[in-house]
Amino acid sequence: MKNDFPEYFYPGGAGSFDFQLPTKIIFGEGTVKRLGGEIKQLGGSRVLIVTSNGMPDRQAVKDILSDLNQAGITTNVFSSAPPEPSADDVNTCLKFASKLKLDIVVGIGGGSAMDVAKKTAVEITVPKIMIPTTAGSGSEVTHNSVLMVDGRKKSFSDIKIAADVAIVDPDLLITMSASGMASSAMDAMAHAVESYGARKGNNITRALALEAYLLTRDNISHALSGDAEGRHNIAMGSLMAGMALTGTGTTLGHALAYPLSNRGMTHSQSLAIVLPYLLKINRFDADHAAELKSLRQKYCITPEIRWAISEMAAEVAADERHLTNNPTEVTLQEIIDVLTEIRKESHNTGR
Ligand SMILES: [Fe+2]
Repeated sequence: MKNDFPEYFYPGGAGSFDFQLPTKIIFGEGTVKRLGGEIKQLGGSRVLIVTSNGMPDRQAVKDILSDLNQAGITTNVFSSAPPEPSADDVNTCLKFASKLKLDIVVGIGGGSAMDVAKKTAVEITVPKIMIPTTAGSGSEVTHNSVLMVDGRKKSFSDIKIAADVAIVDPDLLITMSASGMASSAMDAMAHAVESYGARKGNNITRALALEAYLLTRDNISHALSGDAEGRHNIAMGSLMAGMALTGTGTTLGHALAYPLSNRGMTHSQSLAIVLPYLLKINRFDADHAAELKSLRQKYCITPEIRWAISEMAAEVAADERHLTNNPTEVTLQEIIDVLTEIRKESHNTGR
């Protein structure tokens, strides 16, 4: 493929690989209406809906519940999946589930709700359907559930964690706040950039990642201005980036972001903060970094660094799983420089 993006070290492809994507994907405006049919096809009639606080009050979720009830499907709602959930939150959900008769789990929300839903469904061995209401995590198609364990993010990875069905309905993104849309779209962009360059990558993942990057880069402003086509393309980009990730895992961007989210930022905010630096260090569309910085300033995703840079840099440098998968070598000094730059930005924006 001819493009301006770097070929890194593998112009001929990465040799042999496994790529398994067991999830049935249903994409498009209005497709959430197909949930009842999909539940029945999986043999379900008693559903545990796993979602986040406040979601059951949203009209879209009320409509989903009333459609299911009309179709004769029993619903129970667990709406206590918090942002950046922990293994304990999964245990709370399991305790709730243990009091019910149920035969399927449906996760509705962002990555946090879906990660709790997926892990819960695996533990009680029932099928699962994921419905994202943000565009960033890709959790509807990944094999991972990222949970806090002892105050640190831990990615549980197993093919069994993957959803049976993902219903991606771009209309569900309508209620996202502008800052939520901006940061989650940048999370999806980071997934695309990281997957594209990942040493574990192959021709399939790179094709998915490149398309995902172009869709998110070229549509983020449209989606933020409320344009339906922009929203459609961001939802598609996020989905494709998630598919790419299943074959590659993440790299430097997530290594840089984890110390921020371990200290209280949401996952997508921390990715939005590091994304412009990721583009520069990995020499991937670096000219676009300045535009992304101004977008995140405009939408109030301002960095807030109050912690010791050396401590955070040491955490990043110790993250071998992500760093060895990155296409370029990254030195401790480069990590310190990025964190220092982020702290400078934080001072310039008055935080
Ligand atoms: Fe992510």
